[in-house]
Amino acid sequence: MSEAASEKNTVLMEKIVSLCKRRSFIFQSAEIYGGLNGCWDYGPLGAELKRNLKEYWWRRNVQEREDILGMDGSILTHQEVLKASGHVGGFSDPMCDCLLSKARLRADQIDPQDGTVYQYSGASHEESGWSVDREYSVLVTEGQDENKARKTARLYYSQFLTDKQISPKKLELAGESTEEVTGTTSFNPENGSQLTEPREFNLMFKTHMGASAEDGDESSVAYLRPETAQTIFTQFKNVAETNRVKLPFGIAQIGKSFRNEINPRNYTFRSREFEQMEIEFFCRPDEGMALTDEWLEKRLKFYEEIGIPREHLHILDVPDGERAHYSKKTYDIEYEFPFGIQELEGVAYRTDYDLSKHKECSGKPLEFFDDETKEKLIPHVVEPSAGCDRTILALICEAFDEETVTDDKGKEEVRTVMRFSPRMAPIKVAVLPLLKNKPELVEKAREVQALLTPFMTVFYDETAAIGRRYRRQDEVGTPFCVTVDFDTLGEAGDELKDTVTLRHRDSMEQERIAIADLRNFLLDQIH
Ligand code: GAP
Repeated sequence: MSEAASEKNTVLMEKIVSLCKRRSFIFQSAEIYGGLNGCWDYGPLGAELKRNLKEYWWRRNVQEREDILGMDGSILTHQEVLKASGHVGGFSDPMCDCLLSKARLRADQIDPQDGTVYQYSGASHEESGWSVDREYSVLVTEGQDENKARKTARLYYSQFLTDKQISPKKLELAGESTEEVTGTTSFNPENGSQLTEPREFNLMFKTHMGASAEDGDESSVAYLRPETAQTIFTQFKNVAETNRVKLPFGIAQIGKSFRNEINPRNYTFRSREFEQMEIEFFCRPDEGMALTDEWLEKRLKFYEEIGIPREHLHILDVPDGERAHYSKKTYDIEYEFPFGIQELEGVAYRTDYDLSKHKECSGKPLEFFDDETKEKLIPHVVEPSAGCDRTILALICEAFDEETVTDDKGKEEVRTVMRFSPRMAPIKVAVLPLLKNKPELVEKAREVQALLTPFMTVFYDETAAIGRRYRRQDEVGTPFCVTVDFDTLGEAGDELKDTVTLRHRDSMEQERIAIADLRNFLLDQIH
């Protein structure tokens, strides 16, 4: 991406973040206390948007299908479950610390750098007789002053001063030597300081349960689940035995997951607390590969149905060696976020890995009797695993638009409009009396509101000029506005009596519609 395009996308992202706060979609968690990094709170409109997404996902994947059952598992997870799944031993990212700023970085996300490494063996302060022997190095990249290395090194060594009154500038550096390097990832790109060697950092949130928790009793250890999938595997037998199911069939779940991400970033994209929408689709071994392709298509169609067009999605067929250890085939569905093309969902063929592991570790039989082949088997599984918060962010990015429009007086202005699909829009319709000081208009508008409220989210607004009220609705993505005016009351004759103006958000076109037809018209649009 060119520098100009990257700058444009940064500005776009800033506008999106600002709108989300201003219009009550997303707030930083614990903002009044300085914020809780990697956690976000959804405001009234964000909560509606999220509900619409989750309800539609549930409807399409559970309620409209005979072969998928829903469940809602616990977040606190037995340590044995996550030992069996491999999360306790292996769910980690390589992490290193900046020796100067103490910033924690993901080792695999540091861009390789070229330059000159300045190495030192220690530092001293002549007047006080203080000294420290400790190796440290700094990277100076092309165009940077070599004095930067010395300044950084003095700052580093000053951490060990016992007398904090001594200025770092007064320190004498020892044993300076230099070396040219290419492609190094051992230095912090922000300040050139040496980093620690990468260490594996487990991403799970660990907690203790019960009365023995305070004694540090190991058996009281539990975890906040890092994925919803594991509860599906551990309840597979219960669900299969208490429902009449035959292969292939799925179990679906929507719920919170938690990962202690080293660098939460890109707004809500990489959070520490997030929601997943996962299906484990159990099948016969010979069906796994084909079902993975089928699920990919189904999921792409789903994104289209919620307003994310195919041309903004990318499919990554994850190559051998880069897939999770349990997967024989994985597609990542990626979206063009303003900050880059990034993963929205993974569709993975997990084989019989999970059920076999849980069978082995729990010692419980997890075989399933296949009525058709009259065989007992550990089913294989295809897993479409979507991130709810990431999809919300994609919906918001996709919806955001600014266009220049000319008002009635010929004045140009920028209209900010969130072009959510009506199905996802947090508010489906705004009901607006033309004037608030005409009781007949207000009464009629309230009647229209009452007619629609049981079926959809309706927003009633009587303040400000009608044009301003339309703009406010545009900014939160309300697809339809209904205005009650004097024609509604019959002042222009019987033909227009009990009709209202229906304004379409995207085209801004207006049409007349009978109040009696309004409910069905809107239900058709938002279903
Ligand atoms: N059960 C498989 C699984 O959890 P994953 O690729 O680690 O696979 C699936 O996660 C989806 O969950 C991702 O595609 C993403 O949408 C979402 N997700 C994962 N980590 C996330 C995070 N830190 N913040 C927000 N969403 C996340």
